[in-house]
Amino acid sequence: MRTQVGIVGAGPAGLLLAHLLALEGVESVVLESRSREAVEQTIRAGVLEQGTVDLLDSTGVGERMRREGALHRGIELRFGGRGHRIDFPSLTGGRAIMLYPQHEVLKDLIAARLAAGGDLRFEVADVAVEEATSDRPRLRFNEGGQARALDCEVVAGCDGFWGVCRDAIPEGRRTAYAREYPFAWFGILAEAPPSSDELIYCSSERGFALVSTRSPTVQRLYFQCDPDDHEDNWPDDRIWEELQARLQTRDGWTLTEGPIFQKGIVGMRSFVCEPMQHGRLFLAGDAAHIVPPTGAKGLNLAAADVVVLARGLVELFRSGAGGRLEAYSATCLRRVWRTEHFSWWMTSMLHRFPGDDPFQHRLQLAQLEYVASSEAAATTLAENYVGLPIGDG
Ligand code: FAD
Ligand code: PHB
Repeated sequence: MRTQVGIVGAGPAGLLLAHLLALEGVESVVLESRSREAVEQTIRAGVLEQGTVDLLDSTGVGERMRREGALHRGIELRFGGRGHRIDFPSLTGGRAIMLYPQHEVLKDLIAARLAAGGDLRFEVADVAVEEATSDRPRLRFNEGGQARALDCEVVAGCDGFWGVCRDAIPEGRRTAYAREYPFAWFGILAEAPPSSDELIYCSSERGFALVSTRSPTVQRLYFQCDPDDHEDNWPDDRIWEELQARLQTRDGWTLTEGPIFQKGIVGMRSFVCEPMQHGRLFLAGDAAHIVPPTGAKGLNLAAADVVVLARGLVELFRSGAGGRLEAYSATCLRRVWRTEHFSWWMTSMLHRFPGDDPFQHRLQLAQLEYVASSEAAATTLAENYVGLPIGDG
């Protein structure tokens, strides 16, 4: 079997890349280890930057997002028992964000690829990248018990943080930059109407909490917990008590409660692999970098990578010129590191770190008050949150 671009992973990066390439007449095969159902049901991110929204819209996969997603024009920063609104449009020249869950984006991309006759293969096993530095890299894999080989002109490693593609770059040829955080997020989905029209990022003495939504009837809520904690330690009553305590305000605001139908703990880490390329193997999305979820950036960063990659690949296949593709890693890493900084900054400003002293807490409060009261500081948060330009603009 042969294709132009062999793509490992049917997450946001892999599916969006296949979609962007197909629109430009470049063929690809997507290899995914999980089933289509599992891919379409995994609950992850919820926030789409303005640029991601525009991208989905302009490439014909934004119709359901426009109908079912919710446009948000700001967020609330809550600390010291008070809320402070950050207004995105007035600080960023009219930009905003969209709340539309990642698995819904994936459903739309899978439907679009299949409708266009795209080659998506779910439940493949043992994917291995071979000869990445030759001009004919190969993907070997197992499909329904059969060993297969796919000859490619380029391989895109879009297989997430735990995938195999990053390891296909020899250790001596890549550098990992990493930071683990001493806390995790406990996330729940609850059947209850939204408590707030906009997301609330809350710093309290008991730790961080986040109020988000999924639909007019479902809320997505998170609170900072110990990374070694377990779902079983948190019966529903205890979860509501903790969330209410962290989110309480001086004017008696309360969170709307309802039946909890999903619970999970998400670890927090920052990670970057440099470079994001080895020969004809290109890493994109979580395969190359991870951010803690406080900035809501993971999915958006994956989208930005594949826009740059698709432009480079289209240039290569149209004219044989490799200039854009050679610049891929450096182009992406500029935005990756800006986003790493933003995600780390939001995380550091809003969470309680074990062992922090009162001096550190005062510094956090001073920073929060500055963001809430200075237009310059609020603009920094807003322009990063709604998303910076992709690639070279
Ligand atoms: P992924 O979405 O990880 O997709 C990779 C795909 O590759 C997967 O479908 C996987 O099954 C497949 N794969 C892996 N290995 C192989 C292999 N060997 N062969 C074939 N296929 C393979 N971000 C936020 O902004 N907010 C959040 O609330 C948030 N919550 C998250 C919760 C969890 C549990 C996780 C893991 C991430 C979360 N993120 C969140 C991050 C965000 O979801 C990711 O940044 C985004 O999914 C990255 O997309 P991706 O396509 O690069 O990788
Ligand atoms: C979510 O809705 O899942 C969400 C929102 C904002 C974040 C992280 C996750 O920063």
